[in-house]
Order: sequence, then structure tokens, then C-alpha cells
Amino acid sequence: ETNIEQLKKEILELKEKQDAVILAHYYVDGEVQAIADYVGDSYFLSKLAIELKEQTIIFCGVSFMGESAKVLNPGKKVVMADEFADCPMAHMAEVAKIEEVRKEWDDIAVVCYVNSTSELKAHSDVCVTSSNAIKVVRNLKAKNIYFIPDENLGRYVAEQLPEKHFIFNDGFCHVHKSIHADELLKAKEAHPEAEVLTHPECTGDVLELSDFIGSTSQIIDYATESAAKEFIICTEMGVFYELAQKNPDKKFYSVGHRQFCPNMKKITLEKVKNALETLQPEMIVDLEIAEKSCKPLEKMLELAA
Ligand code: 13P
Ligand code: SF4
Repeated sequence: ETNIEQLKKEILELKEKQDAVILAHYYVDGEVQAIADYVGDSYFLSKLAIELKEQTIIFCGVSFMGESAKVLNPGKKVVMADEFADCPMAHMAEVAKIEEVRKEWDDIAVVCYVNSTSELKAHSDVCVTSSNAIKVVRNLKAKNIYFIPDENLGRYVAEQLPEKHFIFNDGFCHVHKSIHADELLKAKEAHPEAEVLTHPECTGDVLELSDFIGSTSQIIDYATESAAKEFIICTEMGVFYELAQKNPDKKFYSVGHRQFCPNMKKITLEKVKNALETLQPEMIVDLEIAEKSCKPLEKMLELAA
């Protein structure tokens, strides 16, 4: 306890000294969220990075988030709290397949979920996050959509936009995929009054059993505004920290025991302190890839606004 208090104090002092700002995603540990200057979903964090006055960003999240912050702000220093915190889904698509699909279809847009490497983004037309995917894809002129890497989010968006034709890719998030419909049914039986709030990276059978589907921030906002008192949460357990902060009188239940992203949980206060002290490891993106991957991100910001 005192150790944590001491660490927090050192982090605050170092932050001042280095003129740095700390950004964190809702899936990192609560104690890391507590010392961050800003916590948000992927969309908020990518938009925010452009508006900050500080020249150094300490990023508490997985690689693709730091990469987006860097390519949107090439002049700033982006330091990753943990350079090995990486999202496996970000690698679950192939450039060769993108090129193949482009040849096969006319009138096609390659839509890339932000949970992807810069290289995949560099070969895409537009990025989306879970909070703006429907809006952004609806606003695209192309009729055919190749959605990478996440199949579940792709299918969810496709269902809302029957006027488009979708081609899917078989990427997935192992954390959300491990939330099973039969376990959700059991949780609903145990908590019949609870509303079910779900992230669109979950499988379709889980989405069907849900009262609300949205990004991490949208789930938190929904729970905060809802008249219900109990909720079953189908996303990574990191969101429970902010849910409880904002709603001390409401109850939040998980579905099973596996709502845990091991990569997000690599980030500790100790590592944040080290990052602030050394300003390492710095996020570096190849210049050509950075230029190319910036375009679909900027297009997302334009279409989602
Ligand atoms: P959002 O916070 O944008 O909903 O992202 C969820 C996620 O899986 C990030 O890795
Ligand atoms: Fe990737 Fe899933 Fe972890 Fe998000 S929760 S970083 S999508 S593995």
C-alpha cells in the first residue's frame, strides 16, 4: 500500500519534470488508470493525441494504440509503458490477401479496425474503431467492403448496413471470443434483473443476448445513464474500475473467469515510472509506413466527426 503511494508520488513528480502526459486504455489495471491524465476507448485516445500540448506521451496500452498516436503526431515522442504489450488480433490479416481482394472486386473499400499493425493500415482505405465503425462504413461510397482483421466486429457492422456487401477476414480477439453464450445465459439466470452490455468483438450469439452493444466508453456511459441497477459486462474486466468509480451504487458482474487481456495487464505502475524516467522504449514507426498508415486514420477522424 505505502509502496503504491510512493510510486504514485514519484510518477507525478517525474511527469512534471518531463512535461509528459499519460494516456491509458480502459483495459489496463485500475491503479494505472488512476494515475493517468486521460483514460478512454481507442477512438478517444487516437483523437486526443492530436490535441495535446505536451511533447511527450506515455502510452499505457497495446502497440497498435501507441503506433496510431505516433503516426498522427510524428513530431511527438510516444513512449510505451511496456513495449511487449501487443494485441494478437492486430496481426490477424495479410497484405497479400488485401491485394488479392482488391483485384477481385471493383468498387471496394478496405476497412481496417484500429486493432491492426501500421503495415495493415498502410494497405487500407479507412480505419474504424468499435465506437464509429457503423457510421464510418455507412459514409463510404464503395459498395463492397473488405473488413479486417476482426470478423465479429465486421459481421456486427454488416448486419446494421444491409445496403453494403461485406467480405470478411477471420481475425478475432481471444478475450472476447472466450465469453460464451451458454455462460452468459447462466449469468442472466443468476441475475435476472441485470442488463447485458457487450463489446462488438464478442461472437454473434453473445451479441444477440445483449441489451446494449458498444465500445468500452459507450458501455461505461450506458451503464452510468441507465436506470437499471445491475449489469452483466461482456468485455475485458479493466472496465470494472471506471464502472465502479462512476456508479458506486450499481452492481457489475462478469460472465466467466477469462475476461482478462494478458497484454493490457502487462502494464504496471513500476513500468510507467521507468518509462517516465528513461523516456524509453520509444515508439518508432518506419517513415514510409507511417505516412501511408496516417491517411486511413485521418479519414476515420474526418468521417466519424
Ligand atoms: P475500445 O476501447 O475502442 O472499445 O477497444 C476495445 C479493445 O479491444 C481495445 O483493445
Ligand atoms: Fe487485443 Fe482483445 Fe486484448 Fe483488446 S482485449 S488488446 S482486442 S487481445
